[in-house]
Amino acid sequence: MEGLTDVTFRRLIRRIGGIGLTCTEFVPAEGLVRQVRRVRETAMLDPDERPGAVQIYGRRPEVLAEAARWVAASGASVVDINMGCPARKVCAHSGGAALLGDPALARSIVAAVRAAVDVPLTVKIRSGLTPGHRNHLEIARICEGEGADGIVVHWRTREDAFGGTFDPKPIAEVRRAVGIPVVGNGDVVDVPSALRLLDETGCHALMIGRGALCDPWLPLEVARTLAGEPFEPPTPADRCAFLLAYIEGTRSVFRTESGALGRVKKLAAYTTRALPHGGALRRRVFHARDLSEVEATLRTWPPTLARDPTPVP
Ligand SMILES: Cc1cc2nc3c(=O)[nH]c(=O)nc-3n(C[C@H](O)[C@H](O)[C@H](O)COP(=O)(O)O)c2cc1C
Repeated sequence: MEGLTDVTFRRLIRRIGGIGLTCTEFVPAEGLVRQVRRVRETAMLDPDERPGAVQIYGRRPEVLAEAARWVAASGASVVDINMGCPARKVCAHSGGAALLGDPALARSIVAAVRAAVDVPLTVKIRSGLTPGHRNHLEIARICEGEGADGIVVHWRTREDAFGGTFDPKPIAEVRRAVGIPVVGNGDVVDVPSALRLLDETGCHALMIGRGALCDPWLPLEVARTLAGEPFEPPTPADRCAFLLAYIEGTRSVFRTESGALGRVKKLAAYTTRALPHGGALRRRVFHARDLSEVEATLRTWPPTLARDPTPVP
């Protein structure tokens, strides 16, 4: 997820466990081919991030193929093509979810990338451009026909952005229509929603996005529940320690304090939600002027009356 699931976040969440595969933020194929340093860094996996996927996006088949070659050569276990991003800046250049509206181009892209790499290839799609124009089955069949090894289906359409009411149908339909593994995605926020998505779609695996940003222990809790094993929930101190470790890792990745602080605030907007008095903590983090201020807050959270006489709103 752009600006969030960077190498530091992925390293930490894998350490918690319950995860089969992690994926980079989306990476613009054009920037990768031009070897733009920042883009190249986004496409790098941690040395022991196995299996790890790198997601690329773009619209020119030959450029995506070249980017995929670079990604595979740099050690990715899986190359994933983004056909799901609804953002205007991505769709304006016919990448991301805009490809759902151009099945011929989508086909050329999957074929070109397939021919370029031997590592497993997956495609992430939405169910269509608008609720009135869903073509997930057409796109899924194209992907399978051109040699994709798996498909991730987010049940929403591009027009839905992040709204709409949960609808397992598109995922269930793709599951029945293709013979390759199908990963279900969209609104898994706790164990019941994970089980519901699995039960109602028959999908082979789950992709958890925002749910894991809010609660990095969620994948482990789901995996343990599915295996019938006990799950020990993290304490608030464990959650604060996760953010503190994220700060430490981010500091070493970013060249400037303000860049690192911006990134930490972005993740904290999600991760603080699972903490007691999360709203108050979020406000403190947002107003922090530097990373040490965030660290000091986290080390004493939640504040007790003995430690901090200021009432927590
Ligand atoms: C801030 C943000 C960034 C995202 N970046 C990506 C991305 O880079 N690639 C991608 O395939 N999906 C991206 N997504 C979409 C998620 O992967 C996922 O499909 C969507 O959030 C629904 O799943 P969830 O409810 O588990 O989050 C992003 C979503 C958000 C909110």
